[in-house]
Amino acid sequence: MTSPQTLLRGRTLNFTAEPNGPDDTQAYEYCEDGAILIQDGLIVASGDYVSVSAQATDAVVIDHRPHLLMAGFIDTHIHFPQVQVIASWGAQLLDWLNTYTFPAETQYADPAHSATMAGKFFDQITAHGTTTAVAYCSVHKTSADAFFTEAARRNMRMIGGKVMMDRNAPDGLRDTPQSSYDDTKALIETWHGKGRATYAITPRFAITSTPAQMEMAQALVQQHSDCYVQTHLSENHDEIAYTAELYPNARDYLDVYQSYGLLGPKMLLGHSIHLKPREIDALVETGAHPVFCPTSNLFLGSGLFDDAGLRGRGVTNAIATDVGAGTSYSMLQTLNEGYKVLQLQGQSLHPLRAFHWITRGNALALGLENKIGTLAPGSEADIVVLNAAATHAMALRLERATTLSEELFILMMMGDDRAVDCVYLGGKASENT
Ligand code: GUN
Ligand code: ZN
Repeated sequence: MTSPQTLLRGRTLNFTAEPNGPDDTQAYEYCEDGAILIQDGLIVASGDYVSVSAQATDAVVIDHRPHLLMAGFIDTHIHFPQVQVIASWGAQLLDWLNTYTFPAETQYADPAHSATMAGKFFDQITAHGTTTAVAYCSVHKTSADAFFTEAARRNMRMIGGKVMMDRNAPDGLRDTPQSSYDDTKALIETWHGKGRATYAITPRFAITSTPAQMEMAQALVQQHSDCYVQTHLSENHDEIAYTAELYPNARDYLDVYQSYGLLGPKMLLGHSIHLKPREIDALVETGAHPVFCPTSNLFLGSGLFDDAGLRGRGVTNAIATDVGAGTSYSMLQTLNEGYKVLQLQGQSLHPLRAFHWITRGNALALGLENKIGTLAPGSEADIVVLNAAATHAMALRLERATTLSEELFILMMMGDDRAVDCVYLGGKASENT
């Protein structure tokens, strides 16, 4: 017996390359009357409704017209234990961590709290159209167990790891070099490659890890080269100065991580704002990925990410919310603020490139473009259904829109969870959108 098929009908948008300008119609496929055929959680075919439906055998048809169907959004940097930290007033990075973030994260030692908040976290990101996230858990092993348990229950492709942090944090929020190694090892053993879970080795940042802990991170990366590595880099001037004090032999901030062998194409470096020429050279040489977090960078007053400068050197930048310093779970709102950050530097973010970035672009940075980020046959059926007329203000503006790019720009400037009509995770409609 063959397994059941689902046929989603609507306007479909699928990127096949990064658009190199507003008129790059070669970079995507758009079907006014389109469809996506799904079986066993995977996309069998997508494109024009007539040809896709001809391939269906007894499929259940779900009609989403006139909405837009595209690959689910990918958030490449978010903190799961900060769901109750978002919107905390009046501080820049180091004060914000000490005043709001560290106290909130200590609560995740409690498995019941971790489990409850994991449910809330996944409700939020799904409601905002995000189907894959790369997440920081708290220092407690139990928070990562809760994160992956809940992701598995919802059949979501998730990447995450417990933060390693053994100094400059309060009691109850520090591990030791040995315990961070043991807990990370155990989590990799339990979760990495299980279903849709992937582990990210996560030294939080240079300030909260001793050299002895960095050595443990290095050992883990050597032993588990198929895991991701994530950390923070050059977000704030006080942070950079303190890092230089703590690692006096490092040539610069990135060299702290580089000297412990952490850099490579599987590494994600949150923020990467105030980079020196040598650090940019090192990013180019190693293929590590800066992660642009616009709502966070504006909220904490951290600075302006130089997207064009890095791209011009051939670096593949990812983009992310960074909740709870980020102020929205929405990748649409992330594009909104990202657009403005680039405007302030005379750089421009065209809507075609913007929507490519939060789907296939972030998938490319993760090396997952054959699994997520597009509607190509064989991809996992994580899909977002978007309504560009979700609010009265959007509908009013849409009346004067004549092109796909205009519609996308309305979505990214005015859209949020209200514009997400529905989300499919591994081919199944999520219950909470
Ligand atoms: N640097 C170290 N930890 C954090 C964090 O939780 N958020 C942000 N924005 N930067 C960090
Ligand atoms: Zn962060």
